[in-house]
Amino acid sequence: MKVLVATEKPFAAAAVNGIKAEIEAAGNELALLEKYTEKAQLLDAVKDADALIIRSDKVDAEVLDAAKQLKIVVRAGAGYDNIDLAAATAHNVVAENTPGQNANAVAELVFGLLVFAVRNFYNGKAGTELMGKKLGILAFGNVGRNVARIAKGFGMDVYAYDAFCPAEVIEKAGVHAVANQEALFETCDVVSLHIPATPETKQSINYALVGKMKKGGILVNTARKEVINEPELLKLMAEREDLKFVTDIMPDANADFQKFEGRYFSTPKKMGAQTAEANTNAGIAAAKQINAFFKDGDTKFQVNK
Ligand code: 3PG
Repeated sequence: MKVLVATEKPFAAAAVNGIKAEIEAAGNELALLEKYTEKAQLLDAVKDADALIIRSDKVDAEVLDAAKQLKIVVRAGAGYDNIDLAAATAHNVVAENTPGQNANAVAELVFGLLVFAVRNFYNGKAGTELMGKKLGILAFGNVGRNVARIAKGFGMDVYAYDAFCPAEVIEKAGVHAVANQEALFETCDVVSLHIPATPETKQSINYALVGKMKKGGILVNTARKEVINEPELLKLMAEREDLKFVTDIMPDANADFQKFEGRYFSTPKKMGAQTAEANTNAGIAAAKQINAFFKDGDTKFQVNK
């Protein structure tokens, strides 16, 4: 079987070597399309692929139409909003993700962004510390749980809300569960977003919600840009000169946010999962899932059931 790794933002070399070894050990063949700049390159490369490994690369109906042999696509990572699941199902293609594999990398970056923010982006002026501050985690999945673990090391007081995770599970992890997301924003000095981009969450981080934060509040986004209502956050930050916003996903309105000098920072390109360890973990998990699918019909991680 031919397995294509198509990554506009490539994996670390060690991860690619690991994926290749895994795929070949199972008697499958690896093809590589990295740093492609045109969709046409992807459409051409998928023509004879039986399986596809991607990152945030978009797999829509057009890609699936071109991929006549495709049986499985694995998103090496957590969020699969870049795959058109209905189109995958219509094309009889199994879609999977690799949950948890890059969670620690994303969680560590949250603290990279946070220390940078509370120390005034290293401008030389006195900042504040994280110890003793209240951290709110919005969604207690794999990344949220790693954020909670690291936050405790910083001596933070940790709160979480997850619409799909029972309060008992959150409390069992030594984290205060709150009743809803409004309470999380009201209670916490810092709120870190770990929700996926779904029809329910898109644009949900809005003026009313972030406006509930106390003076000096910090919003951290390492999830998806689509969950932020950008015009409303811009309006709020213009009114509330105390608020800071740090993000690993550059907003569409980056130029407007940049006007809030000293209160806004975005990485130039999503860096959360961009570590050798995360690439290796997620890439090899994807390769193993593909091998298991071809060998035993295993679909444990299927997201378009
Ligand atoms: C994920 O959903 O796993 C992360 O956002 C990482 O995405 P990336 O592979 O595009 O860096």
